[in-house]
Amino acid sequence: MGRLFVGVLGVSTKRRTIIAGNWKMNKTFGEGKKLAAAIVEGVKDKKDLPEIVLCPPFTLLSEVTESTKDSAVKVGAQNMDYRDEGAYTGEVSPVMLTSMSVGYVLIGHSERRQFFGETNATVNLRLKAALRHDLVPIVCVGETLDEREDGLTDAVVRRQVAAALADIDETDLEKIVFAYEPVWAIGTGKTCEADEANRVAGLVRATVNEFYSRGESGQKNKSTVGEQIPVLYGGSVKASNVDEQLALEHIDGSLVGGASLTAQEFLPIIEAGAKRVARVPSKA
Ligand code: PGA
Repeated sequence: MGRLFVGVLGVSTKRRTIIAGNWKMNKTFGEGKKLAAAIVEGVKDKKDLPEIVLCPPFTLLSEVTESTKDSAVKVGAQNMDYRDEGAYTGEVSPVMLTSMSVGYVLIGHSERRQFFGETNATVNLRLKAALRHDLVPIVCVGETLDEREDGLTDAVVRRQVAAALADIDETDLEKIVFAYEPVWAIGTGKTCEADEANRVAGLVRATVNEFYSRGESGQKNKSTVGEQIPVLYGGSVKASNVDEQLALEHIDGSLVGGASLTAQEFLPIIEAGAKRVARVPSKA
């Protein structure tokens, strides 16, 4: 209760709430269409909605943007190339995404890092491309189980955040969203303890602040830009644990994988986001 009180009174009161569903490589055309329609129907006429973002596979982006077009539901891609066009077989560019009303893009999801060669350097290139094209980037960071067991969680997360931000101007930060997703908690059913998720989400924010705080003649010019940035938690989020997570100071929303694949499981998570919005109205 104490923690909630601090959150309600603190700077975090101004950060928006975002509930994003990452469908990963799931849903055929017909299934995806049905799921998007069920989410739209489920949030119709609801008050205090969080920012709701569905991230279907590329094959469904067109259909999902169409099904959600007159609703509160927004659409994001799960990845994109950082170049605008060219001979890059199999890739999808930011220009293609914005041309079909996709507004968000996941960047550096751990599965991209683990299986598709994504590195901190390519995350930075994609982040810059997203900003250039006015897409809202959701930048994913998080440690593996080995890194956690070796006590490297904070170092890894700090390095990922700082590397993502290389050469990005502080004035461009308005649009960025981060997601803390401990790799060992993704798709495993093992949720990170809410207090620990909150601590690392706070570390993400503190790292952003440090990154933009410049030392001049021994005097630090302190940045607080990180206080405006939404930080989501992801990793086995479900209806039964989301309320506890969203009550904490540094967790501004959820990036949901498995539990975003049915309306039955995803709608209660959106509802939890709506409760946070009612409790913690955003500035926007
Ligand atoms: P999960 O996935 O909710 O299935 O753990 C989260 C994610 O990978 O974004």
